[in-house]
Amino acid sequence: MTVKFTINGVPVEAEKGESVIDVARRYGFEIPSLCHHPAVEPYGACRVCLVEISKGGRKKMTTCCNYEVQDGIEVVTDNEDIRRNRATVIELLLAEAPKAKAIVKLAEEYGIHKSRYEKEGDPVAQMHDGCILCGLCVRVCTEVVEVSALNFTGRGDKRNVGTPYMETPQNCIACGACAYVCPTDCIGFEEENGVRRLKKWNRELPLAKGEDGRPFAPQFQLWYFTQKAGLDKDFYKKGGPGSR
Ligand code: SF4
Ligand code: SF4
Ligand code: FES
Repeated sequence: MTVKFTINGVPVEAEKGESVIDVARRYGFEIPSLCHHPAVEPYGACRVCLVEISKGGRKKMTTCCNYEVQDGIEVVTDNEDIRRNRATVIELLLAEAPKAKAIVKLAEEYGIHKSRYEKEGDPVAQMHDGCILCGLCVRVCTEVVEVSALNFTGRGDKRNVGTPYMETPQNCIACGACAYVCPTDCIGFEEENGVRRLKKWNRELPLAKGEDGRPFAPQFQLWYFTQKAGLDKDFYKKGGPGSR
């Protein structure tokens, strides 16, 4: 079913169920985001995708990654108010992850070079260790990889992202999808001496070798894929990318 509305005065069309951010981007409007990925369910955690939406004569500022398109709404993606609110959100996130390249870059675009909220030795920031609790790693691991090795833990100041009981997750296949989507690069993906390592989850797995003798993927990941896809157990040794 087609939904019709406007973005910055431009008439647009979308499919029912789409989010405003995905439609806006399809039409070429730029909206910053840190916790959004079209492959997973929205979570609305980072709040940098703020826009203004008017509906039935009422206007409100809201995150648009988790706002479903509706007929007749008027979306504004950029104005002074939006930029001021986004700047505050970005400054808070910068205090949490001052070394995260994506956040530093975004902050600079909003004229922020150092966060006023950054506190030397802040125990909460230290516990998060560069993580902004966007939940992308959790959602990707659960919804895309379907391994569910990660979760949110604790409440309030103790809220964090990690593995059950903060122990090495034995079901993690070290695919690296969580590290790939992490907006702050705080998971730590490394490959060295035939071993793939996810530092934050304390998970290390040996890599299988391809036909050229080079390590290319964890044996456990290949086993998981063959099981999941119902492939022959020797798929990666025979016709597949090759493993020894
Ligand atoms: S590397 Fe492990 S924790 Fe990360 S997405 Fe893959 S299975 Fe999940
Ligand atoms: S580790 Fe990265 S992806 Fe996971 S919640 Fe933290 S910032 Fe987001
Ligand atoms: S991208 Fe919308 S809240 Fe994070």
